[in-house]
Amino acid sequence: MLKSKHLLGIKDLSADEINLILDTASGFKDVISRDIKKVPTLRGRTVVNLFYEPSTRTRTSFELASKRLSTDVVNFSVPTSSVVKGETLIDTALTVQALGADFIVIRHSSSGVPHLLASKVDASVINAGDGTNEHPTQALLDAFTMREKKGSIEGLNVAIVGDIAHSRVAKSNIYCLKKLGAKVRLIGPPTLVPDVIKQLGVDTYYDMNAGLKGVDVVMMLRIQLERQGVGLFPSKDEYFKHWGLTTERLALANDDAIVMHPGPMNRGVEITSSVADGERSVILEQVTNGIAVRMAVIYLLEGARQEAKQ
Ligand code: CP
Repeated sequence: MLKSKHLLGIKDLSADEINLILDTASGFKDVISRDIKKVPTLRGRTVVNLFYEPSTRTRTSFELASKRLSTDVVNFSVPTSSVVKGETLIDTALTVQALGADFIVIRHSSSGVPHLLASKVDASVINAGDGTNEHPTQALLDAFTMREKKGSIEGLNVAIVGDIAHSRVAKSNIYCLKKLGAKVRLIGPPTLVPDVIKQLGVDTYYDMNAGLKGVDVVMMLRIQLERQGVGLFPSKDEYFKHWGLTTERLALANDDAIVMHPGPMNRGVEITSSVADGERSVILEQVTNGIAVRMAVIYLLEGARQEAKQ
């Protein structure tokens, strides 16, 4: 059982809770591999996807996860909503709740928005990415994929490479992997690997070739071009030259190392197509696993919601 009816960040979860989500997701992965991919478990519940930032994978897989659990699901379209007339975030969330939402899946450019919503609504709030803070379901599907490929996360050497400073994916993964006993190292330019992050118990490397040696998992991050200030790295070409993952560089990692990327990818900037589409890439499997993991999250939060009502 999860302690909270909200999923706001991995920081708040215990290792037992993370393992419960991953184990539950394994069962749901079996379900969605069948011919009939649906279970009636959450019939009568309503999930609203409230995305203030663009998304392909997260929004679509929350929609599919909800449908596979037989909930009603509404994809709220911010650009065609009364948000453009100035309706506030809280009024929008309260309106969505008044329309019957049991779960609000929120993505927003400001860190902390899911936490604010959770203090204002009775519905369960699920963080689908808040600013540069956390993206918990991405880390959970990444952990699920690593566990599937490597058997266990404990003792794995995981390199997270690239734009750590702007990455909510990196932060959620660091929390998740450390709680599950992995060794985490961060690789990237000094301007994108902030010193303060070392407090989370990770090693840092500015040299990609040195950092890749001995790793079991190479997790590449998207250079968040939309969030860059000026001068954090000289140019995309220069970035690729020093921190882009090529077939030659991948050879420095362990022979059976897998390559991950949360997507969307900047091909030719942080990763070459030969690696992204190569045999060690599990990037599309991450996407597929997102459905089972998000089913598990919604299902377990429903249990916590019911418990909170008693
Ligand atoms: N990984 C991820 O969050 O992708 P989207 O932005 O497409 O949802």
